[in-house]
Amino acid sequence: MNRLENKKIVVTGASSGFGEAIALACAQAGADVALVARRADKLEELATRIRGLGRTAVVCACDVGEQAQIEATVAAARAGLGHIDVLVNNAGMNVSHRRIDATSEDEWQRIINVNLTSAWLFTKNILPEMVARREGTIINIGSKAANYPSLLAGVAYSASKMGIHALTRVTNEEGNPHMVRACTINPGVAATPILELRPKPPTAEDRAKMMQADDVAAAVVFAASLPQRANVERMDLYPTDVSVG
Ligand SMILES: NC(=O)c1ccc[n+]([C@@H]2O[C@H](COP(=O)([O-])OP(=O)(O)OC[C@H]3O[C@@H](n4cnc5c(N)ncnc54)[C@H](OP(=O)(O)O)[C@@H]3O)[C@@H](O)[C@H]2O)c1
Repeated sequence: MNRLENKKIVVTGASSGFGEAIALACAQAGADVALVARRADKLEELATRIRGLGRTAVVCACDVGEQAQIEATVAAARAGLGHIDVLVNNAGMNVSHRRIDATSEDEWQRIINVNLTSAWLFTKNILPEMVARREGTIINIGSKAANYPSLLAGVAYSASKMGIHALTRVTNEEGNPHMVRACTINPGVAATPILELRPKPPTAEDRAKMMQADDVAAAVVFAASLPQRANVERMDLYPTDVSVG
């Protein structure tokens, strides 16, 4: 069953990890997708795979940390897809040194911009259309660090992901009266390239025990494909094997 048949979906951070898996899973479920990230070559490769499934893929190269680029990116996605049913705010980053005293102002600002401000700006640009159509789903990728801020995740990253909870709650307060819903998915550790930035990257053996990008993609497809009357406001998706973190 194509659970997202003809849905028009924007995925940020689609060039790698969760975002790549989310875009592919959505296309496999019948959706057309707009792919947002900085690395256009990676997005083009993914777009070719998605077009091979018979779905539309629109490549939108964008640095989501640059606020001025977001409005034009949304316009390009809308032009390519026609309208937007689902927004997945997934783009995210971290830095290697994560202590308060080791974090520079520039690093703090960059992490907040990429992980949190961009999600607010994509929402700001897309929510009015969803409200007008009385249909829409916004899925924000948070983190276990939003529930348990930690030095392992870092001060700026943890703060950015806690902010995602506030964004989702307020989006629901504004959107629910108009049948628009918002969801935060908080993954625990999963084997994606972002782990290379950890002060001590995990071993291949540990990565094999972690969740994989496809697991998070399946959670996104689930939340997006429930009937519009049902809203998964928050999903905590942690590895079963707690030895991996
Ligand atoms: N893996 C985990 O254990 C884990 C756990 C909890 C939450 N998360 C969250 O999951 C999300 C996806 O991360 P991932 O694990 O899939 O990591 P990843 O493989 O490193 O992917 C990160 C994605 O974000 C994009 N991105 C980063 N900075 C960007 C910018 N300035 N502008 C546009 N796109 C940008 C990257 O694309 P470009 O480099 O091409 O721009 C890439 O597509 C992030 O929000 C992360 O915080 C991950």
